[in-house]
Amino acid sequence: MLRLGVLVSGGGTNLQAIIDRIGSGDITDTEIAVVIASREDAYALKRAEENGIRCLSVVPGRFTDKSSYEEALAGALDEAGAELIVLAGFMIVLSGGFVKKYEGRIINIHPSLIPSFCGNGCYGLKVHEKVLDRGVKITGATVHFVDSGTDTGPIIMQKAVKVLKEDTPESLQRRVMEEAEWEILPAVINAFAHNRIILEDNRAYMEE
Ligand code: GRF
Repeated sequence: MLRLGVLVSGGGTNLQAIIDRIGSGDITDTEIAVVIASREDAYALKRAEENGIRCLSVVPGRFTDKSSYEEALAGALDEAGAELIVLAGFMIVLSGGFVKKYEGRIINIHPSLIPSFCGNGCYGLKVHEKVLDRGVKITGATVHFVDSGTDTGPIIMQKAVKVLKEDTPESLQRRVMEEAEWEILPAVINAFAHNRIILEDNRAYMEE
């Protein structure tokens, strides 16, 4: 049974997708051991509570420095026995030391086709604003392993989404979540639970 530690900061729609796919049996041999929010008001916490999932907030601003924050975060994950760490709408940049501790078992969902529209300062709605500004016709979402960079780890799975002429950043964000994020993140988690993800020479592959 794969134990997940899901890190969140906001609405938690990706967390909800994981909960729903475990419930529907699309994800098997997996349980969410803990949900940890970087903000006390993250609606993702309510989603966890409503589903009887252990949850807590570990807020960076409550700590004197980043290392004590990350020590508390790692402590909560390890206490819950988390084996795969899932960044699901998580807005805190983690240090290289933290990432190293979980190397090969920490993944992130990003709302673009990496390496486009990613990196420092390119997250959330800003991604879709840039996509529309540039006038690209295809965007999508990416699940990747987290390394010490920002959105630079080995890509595991991607899914494309058409950009429509009438799109606004909000309508595009919603469609990328619905058609891509909420599909590929659960698929990668299920593959990880069944040892179908191969990581070699800093490249990742999913076996069918
Ligand atoms: C999503 O677009 C996700 O890709 C990005 O944060 C947004 C909100 O995610 N990382 P969620 O609804 O909190 O899962």
